[in-house]
Amino acid sequence: MPNPTSGHPAALGPVTAGVPKKIRPAKFSTLSKPGVAAVAAPPKPEFSFSLKPREIARHLDRFVIGQSEAKKVLSVALCDHFQHVRMTREGLAAPYYQKQNVLLLGPTGVGKTHLIRSAAELIGVPFVKADATKFSETGYVGGDVDDLVRDLHRRAGNDAKKAEHGIIYLDEVDKLATREQGAGRDVSGRGVQTNLLKLMEDGDVPLTSPNDMTGQLQAAMAAMRGGGGAQPETVNTRHILFIVSGAFSGLADLIRRRLVAAPLDPKNPKPEKNSDDELFQRVSTADLIQYGLEPEFIGRLPVRVACHGLDTDDLFDVLRKSESSLIHQYERAFAAYGITCEFRDDGLRRLAERAAGEHTGARGLMTVCERVFRDLKFRLPSSRVKQFAITAELVDNPAAALQKLLRSAAR
Ligand SMILES: Nc1ncnc2c1ncn2[C@@H]1O[C@H](COP(=O)(O)OP(=O)(O)OP(=O)(O)O)[C@@H](O)[C@H]1O
Ligand SMILES: [Mg+2]
Repeated sequence: MPNPTSGHPAALGPVTAGVPKKIRPAKFSTLSKPGVAAVAAPPKPEFSFSLKPREIARHLDRFVIGQSEAKKVLSVALCDHFQHVRMTREGLAAPYYQKQNVLLLGPTGVGKTHLIRSAAELIGVPFVKADATKFSETGYVGGDVDDLVRDLHRRAGNDAKKAEHGIIYLDEVDKLATREQGAGRDVSGRGVQTNLLKLMEDGDVPLTSPNDMTGQLQAAMAAMRGGGGAQPETVNTRHILFIVSGAFSGLADLIRRRLVAAPLDPKNPKPEKNSDDELFQRVSTADLIQYGLEPEFIGRLPVRVACHGLDTDDLFDVLRKSESSLIHQYERAFAAYGITCEFRDDGLRRLAERAAGEHTGARGLMTVCERVFRDLKFRLPSSRVKQFAITAELVDNPAAALQKLLRSAAR
């Protein structure tokens, strides 16, 4: 299982350079504390946010190939949310504001997590990611959903104010579905959904977990020292944006069945022929409820968008154009031994074709590259080879290409 709160995957790679000149991540600054001598400069806002949806989308374009609808929807939802947070912090309250929590649907490896991480990095808000499968209803087995907020607090450098406008990203929420048939999770999935409801709306989470004995003892001792009146510190979730995602396998069939049974739609006369991607675009609340998610849970996710599958052309562009492309990782790995590797277009296309056959989205690129480069990575560092090109021929037969390289370098 991936590390639930790992940093940006490309934090060591090109993404760190990832913010365009004109768009800088929003900076946090805390108001000067009372009692501290006043300085001439006007007080800085507690939270500043001035991005526009197109700026976020343009930033995402640099790392994530395709997914234009998801980029658009996410950019708008993020701007709405963080403009609202900014205005609220500036004293312009909006008592009837409804939070735009987001549901991202789509197959594995097509950029769902990549989109959210890249956006959170740009906005400069604390961000945590976890898989919904690690939680249990009681919190005794696995984690308790409140732990997400505590993780966010840690990510925010233990600054509760910062944590209160972070992003919580919960992957694999489809596994919380409680379906009669199929591979849905047991009833505890429903319990986890119920526990999430309060967090998604407006809840106060104590920073000490009831399951954390050390924390409990420390809190008790502090309370005793303070005469018993000390309240545990909490983080309020009203302004925490929740983004959830899942592959929802089997959902396309449910949508197809609904469309086929419905009266003929002149705009889509043959729903039985729709691809899964097309069907996902038409997902309704009823489909998600039928899939096994609770109406109250789905109801708190008003923004829904589907990511599409990646075909060979998309995968080619993932390698060629994305600033987080895997090829930079390989160039870097060989450069460490003084070896230059040059990726040619025919080589990239062949890698993309192979990866498309894996049906795991851009994750297929990693699998394919690992196999192609395995022996080259093992042998070339201790050879005299100082440069080589990745062509379709090399991808088709890496062993023969390696022998050829070793032979010509030995001469
Ligand atoms: N559209 C894309 N453009 C560029 N890179 C991508 C794209 N989709 C995926 N990748 C690459 O593949 C890796 C895996 O993608 P990501 O973690 O975003 O998948 P996901 O959609 O969240 O899948 P899962 O449902 O399995 O969690 C990313 O780190 C990124 O390098
Ligand atoms: Mg993911």
